[in-house]
Amino acid sequence: MTEPQAGAAASAQDVERAWGDNKLAQVLYHDWEAQTYDEKWSISFDDRCTSIVRDRFLRVLESSPVPGESVPFGRVLELGAGTGFFSLNLKLAGLVEDVHVSDLSPGMVEAARTNAERLGFTIEGQVADAESLPYDDDSFDLVVGHAVIHHIPDVEAALREVLRVLRPGGRFVIAGEPTTIGHWYARHLGRLTWEVATRVTRLPFLATKWAREQAELDESSRAAALEAVVDLHTFDPAELAGTARRAGAERVGTATEELLSAFAGWPIRTFEYAVADSALGFRWATFAYRTWTTLMRVDSALDAVVPQKFFYNVGVTGVKPHPTPR
Ligand SMILES: C[S@@+](CC[C@H](N)C(=O)[O-])C[C@H]1O[C@@H](n2cnc3c(N)ncnc32)[C@H](O)[C@@H]1O
Repeated sequence: MTEPQAGAAASAQDVERAWGDNKLAQVLYHDWEAQTYDEKWSISFDDRCTSIVRDRFLRVLESSPVPGESVPFGRVLELGAGTGFFSLNLKLAGLVEDVHVSDLSPGMVEAARTNAERLGFTIEGQVADAESLPYDDDSFDLVVGHAVIHHIPDVEAALREVLRVLRPGGRFVIAGEPTTIGHWYARHLGRLTWEVATRVTRLPFLATKWAREQAELDESSRAAALEAVVDLHTFDPAELAGTARRAGAERVGTATEELLSAFAGWPIRTFEYAVADSALGFRWATFAYRTWTTLMRVDSALDAVVPQKFFYNVGVTGVKPHPTPR
């Protein structure tokens, strides 16, 4: 695989080859996404996202408590770090110290470095495939990942690599992965919202204010088609725990989140893509965020009674065993 340069537009030849080379497709798609990724996913490095990331991380961590574990974690690696949403916000939350970000996409590593610089953090960044990490054995206290393993062809191989680079007793926390059932309802809700919103906003008496330019709609449709190429897996929480155990982890735990919040969140997000930017203002943004946070609280209560597989997001944690004395 030849790696395109960060931020470079993919040539027609690259795109042609990407159909037969999923890793190249991942690099091209995520390099292209890197410039606008934070805006697309409303990513920020402030109280709002720090609190989302802290809660998400602790929820997965606490699904398998380890007595005497010391926080903050010292040397920390993030896989598929993107623009640094997870590890930079974990650092802002005071949960991690020495951050190393890695990603298959050079454009994403560059974006994460830029975000870290803006925050005044010194971090290490490296282009790396999670299936073959360029780090020494036993060299990290914690490995984290967020919304990444569903892009990796061999998840068990990646988890074996994670365990290799962790010190004995070190742990991994991977969060924000789509469940199989969650992905199914999110996709259907998204499609329905897109169809209704794009048709209704084309009605003559609404179009001037609400309709998005056709070129922008076409670009969103193309992005959705590409997303289908790079999104490789969805997970059943119990099966994901089994994969982590087969890779060699002990003390494996899983945690899930977003049920009602996903039922509201996907239509809201799709609606935002489907209509003109100028049609939605600050009041809409406040309404959308408040709705999502309120439903997230309801979801936390539902966690005790609804089986994990029905939630939208799953996270998994595990610990690298100490070598057994001979
Ligand atoms: C959906 S983005 C998530 C980014 C970031 N973790 C976040 O939550 O915002 C998935 C990231 O995984 C990266 N990725 C895909 N396949 C990978 C692989 N085999 N090894 C490492 N990173 C990979 C992509 O380049 C992309 O940056």
